[in-house]
Amino acid sequence: MTSKFAVILAAGQGTRMKSKLYKVLHPVCGKAMVEHVLSQVEENKMDEIVTIIGHGAKDVKKRLGKRTKYALQAKQLGTGHAVLQAEELLKDKDGVTLIVCGDTPLFTAQTFSELFEYHEQKGAVATVLTAEAPKPFGYGRIVRNELGIVEKIVEQKDANEKETAITEINTGVYCFDNKELFEALHQVKNDNVQGEYYLTDVMEIFKNAGKVIAAYKMKNFDESMGVNDRVALAQANKLMRQRINEKHMKNGVTLIDPQTTYIDVDVKVGRDTVIEPGVVLKGRTVIGEDCFIGAHSEIRDTVIENNVTVTASLLEESTMAEGSNVGPYSHLRPAAKIGKNVHIGNFVEVKKAEIGENTKVGHLTYVGDATLGKNINVGCGTIFVNYDGINKHHTNVGDYSFIGSGSNLIAPLEVADHAYVAAGSTITNNIDAHDMAIARGRQVNKKGYFDHYPVADAAEKAEMSTHKNI
Ligand code: UD1
Ligand code: CA
Repeated sequence: MTSKFAVILAAGQGTRMKSKLYKVLHPVCGKAMVEHVLSQVEENKMDEIVTIIGHGAKDVKKRLGKRTKYALQAKQLGTGHAVLQAEELLKDKDGVTLIVCGDTPLFTAQTFSELFEYHEQKGAVATVLTAEAPKPFGYGRIVRNELGIVEKIVEQKDANEKETAITEINTGVYCFDNKELFEALHQVKNDNVQGEYYLTDVMEIFKNAGKVIAAYKMKNFDESMGVNDRVALAQANKLMRQRINEKHMKNGVTLIDPQTTYIDVDVKVGRDTVIEPGVVLKGRTVIGEDCFIGAHSEIRDTVIENNVTVTASLLEESTMAEGSNVGPYSHLRPAAKIGKNVHIGNFVEVKKAEIGENTKVGHLTYVGDATLGKNINVGCGTIFVNYDGINKHHTNVGDYSFIGSGSNLIAPLEVADHAYVAAGSTITNNIDAHDMAIARGRQVNKKGYFDHYPVADAAEKAEMSTHKNI
């Protein structure tokens, strides 16, 4: 079988993005553009992948890791010059080389594989992937002769009036005979408007040398979209979002309004889960089957098992076991571990805390740095007081305990199984199993106090006189 290589161009600064972040690292649906490209390339089982890096080289390398080799393009002298930097790594090899830009995140592995196939069928030394663009401005144009045979590619800035009118564009993806490619690249000159070494010029070089060049026109222009500025970035996000949402719906997930459902590319969602409008699912989030994710919830890097309900809440780096529920208006912060059938109600914040099965934390409560057993009831307005201003401390609460409303549990603290905390207590000492702790000021009733309370008295008199007027 023919060997397959790939070169990904990712050395440019991306001036038109007007950003501190290098262009190819801008995310589309939660993943850097260049990472999308790499993932789709990888699916074609390549023998070698080389990424050309320059601007932001360190950051790009950090992002892509060992999945690709790298070649440094110290000065960005054009796409042709960029590919030439891979010469050391690739030039002696027999096979076909796929070239893709790092700023075209929507290409699919399927399209790359179709291009490989077409290239082999035609027996070409070079095949360019083209598309019909509704607005071709900015792209290189495919110039064909009267017989429809490709002659060359002309860049926007170098195009004459007739060429500008062409709507068939260069998507920036090509297949080349590997050895022929590097030979031809040495002949590319920079005598153009931008003074750059254009990769696109090799097509004409091959043509003039009497070699077979071909063009494969893809049906779907959207896939080929190049992101050069933030307007295009928003469009790419929208198109990717549609693709992701359709995939989930086809897999059996109900999206009430796909237009306003924002799901990152690596998120997994189980069958018969219902997702309401305005939901944002990010990062490595995994959601099980038969879940209900209510409107305006945001869930990041969180694992949710089957039959879980999330109502208008924010969940970060947490886990929720089967049958549990949260919200409305609650916040699971990193390392919240919610057990089976646990109920987390309204206005509850949980941080770095494990909550055992069937436990209920219904209202207005902060649980931080704690381990709670099973079947506990935590009353309204309970505060796990975990911070002394310098250090964080841990609280343990045993199974079947009852924490009365408005309690402060001052850590470090051990509350054993079957313990009882009276409402309104500020607990500083450990509580043994089956004991009750009550820690609050005793109530004092002052006899007849109201009669000496002048303001209340005046208000009452005024009220009585109003009644008389009626
Ligand atoms: C390029 C093509 C154009 C095509 C378009 C498709 C050329 C000369 N033009 O234009 O025909 O229609 O893509 O999207 O090839 N890069 C480097 N080093 C460089 C220059 C660029 O690595 O010296 C990288 C960039 O990081 C980017 C990619 O190559 O990922 C494309 O560069 P860009 O400047 O965006 O080219 P376009 O003007 O879009
Ligand atoms: Ca581009």
